[in-house]
Amino acid sequence: MIGVFDSGFGGLTVLRALVTRLPRYDYFYLGDSARAPYGSRSLQDVHGFTREAVELLFEVGCPLVLLACNTASAQALRTLQQRHLPAHRPDRRILGVVRPSAEALAGLPPGAIPGVTEPSLTSGTVGVLGTAGTIASGSYALELAKLAPRLRLVQQACPLWVPLVEAGETRGPGVDFFLRKYLDPLFARPDPPSRLLLGCTHYPLLWSGIRAIVPAAVEILAQGELVAERLADWLARHPEMERRLSRQAKRRYATTDDPSWFAARGEPIMGTALAVERVRLPLWRAAD
Ligand code: DGL
Repeated sequence: MIGVFDSGFGGLTVLRALVTRLPRYDYFYLGDSARAPYGSRSLQDVHGFTREAVELLFEVGCPLVLLACNTASAQALRTLQQRHLPAHRPDRRILGVVRPSAEALAGLPPGAIPGVTEPSLTSGTVGVLGTAGTIASGSYALELAKLAPRLRLVQQACPLWVPLVEAGETRGPGVDFFLRKYLDPLFARPDPPSRLLLGCTHYPLLWSGIRAIVPAAVEILAQGELVAERLADWLARHPEMERRLSRQAKRRYATTDDPSWFAARGEPIMGTALAVERVRLPLWRAAD
């Protein structure tokens, strides 16, 4: 199976695109809803929680895990790839969403080699919206500096958006107030972004409100399709991993919190009824 991890149910916006673009593979989705949101947590917590989640996905039989969570990708991916995998799981792979999203933001096609393929956007301003943890990590700035050094990046943390989405509040005047709180300053700048990335997997669930506020000329990128497209390209370039993936079009869903709550939030996103399992991560197992 391909393991897909998010702090909660927001990563289902990525899974939906994955099963559309790559339907034959089997997927195991894990949402750590009991400990979400991650966006306001310390780097140590995000790293520890993500490592536990990834280990669970390895244990249930995923050779490949995608961190469909910007906060986890920004704060934990590099250490997991560089330290955890070589020491404990040299045969497994973990991918994240920051690098592919930065490529899309700069207008690099999937599989492009930076330095060889010129990004379609080399100057001007682009924007990233994300959790406080994602923005504070500086990961998008780092990646973009490598891909398109002359592109100016403006970033905005939107700490109140994930709690709104997790509470099921995705549209209406109350929601618009909090959308404007972070969007208005971005577009009041003298150099507003011409392309804006929703750098949090929960934010596509606020799409209609965001689209109505952001000037029509601004291109808004959500991560589902772009991540799916780039994963397809990655698998084509890594046949040794692609061969290890099972293909019965099975999907499993697990949460660390109430499965019926998770299913109620997830079903509108996936467009189908979900059978959700409850799993306990090691932190709780010790206390049980
Ligand atoms: N959905 C996650 C992301 O993409 C984070 C949400 C949270 O737990 O704060 O960053």
